[in-house]
Amino acid sequence: MKPHVLVAHPLRPRFMEEMEARYTLHRLDQATDRDALLARAGPVCTAMVVSGHVAVDAALLDRLPALRLAACSSAGFDMIDLPAMTRRGITLTNTSVALADDVADAAILLMLASRRRLVQADAHVRSGDWGRQGMFPLTASAAGKRAGIVGLGTIGLAIARRCEAMGMAIGYSGRNPKPGVGYAYFPDPAALAGWADILLVATPGGAGTAGLISAAVLDALGPDGTLVNVARGSVVDEGALIAALREGRIAGAGLDVFLNEPHPDPALTALPNVTLYPHHASGTVETRDRMSRLTLDNLDAFFAGRPLPTPVN
Ligand code: DGY
Repeated sequence: MKPHVLVAHPLRPRFMEEMEARYTLHRLDQATDRDALLARAGPVCTAMVVSGHVAVDAALLDRLPALRLAACSSAGFDMIDLPAMTRRGITLTNTSVALADDVADAAILLMLASRRRLVQADAHVRSGDWGRQGMFPLTASAAGKRAGIVGLGTIGLAIARRCEAMGMAIGYSGRNPKPGVGYAYFPDPAALAGWADILLVATPGGAGTAGLISAAVLDALGPDGTLVNVARGSVVDEGALIAALREGRIAGAGLDVFLNEPHPDPALTALPNVTLYPHHASGTVETRDRMSRLTLDNLDAFFAGRPLPTPVN
């Protein structure tokens, strides 16, 4: 008999086929009657596939008394109640190692696009204004500047490696200094922002980091500073960011994530000094395939009784 798996978030199609060959799937992601599906699946599903965009709270866990593994196909899991899972003896796995390179690339993309005003320059060339209205305004370097990385986990480290290759000095903040890391440590994000030219946010979301990038942090970054956020919208005080961008208290921002997705605040999207990306930092075929593969590897390891490749708790 095939083990039962609850699917709250689909994997890439070929991995869904692979999963279906080995497990009996209960598709919560496609259910028209969630209640009936949970009543059927709850007593038999020992594992579920989920992502950071799906809310898994105590009320849902109460419907899944047999659950022992939640294989999360994303790096972030801020909508998942991890303490409630841990209390119930459920292990969570995630896929940060599978997406670090593409998310770090996107952070660099947003940093450079903001500093060099790529979007405005592209519009300038397309509009035919080039040569008609004088020179495109001078922009700001990234190479040789100071990169302040908020959260030096797998993704933060991948960003740091790229910044190092650009001749940037690296500083970071986080709960604790990272052993064996030679970058400058700042316990406080405001102190890091005061040191940095570009602040790159790669910390996990959730209650512990909500509003971490406050008005004070943005003021410390200063009028020549650039903010890049590839973490979660909630990590930045978005009202304070809009005010700082509008008043020129920071130079610009490159954002992959927003408080209200997929409908970011119009006051933010109307600003010319912000470069916007639709929460797509990990959105490449290669990375999404790797995330699906790793999620399935965690599932297979669980059912085979092997150590899980990427446990969180
Ligand atoms: C993640 O994996 O957490 C990314 O934000 C994509 O969802």
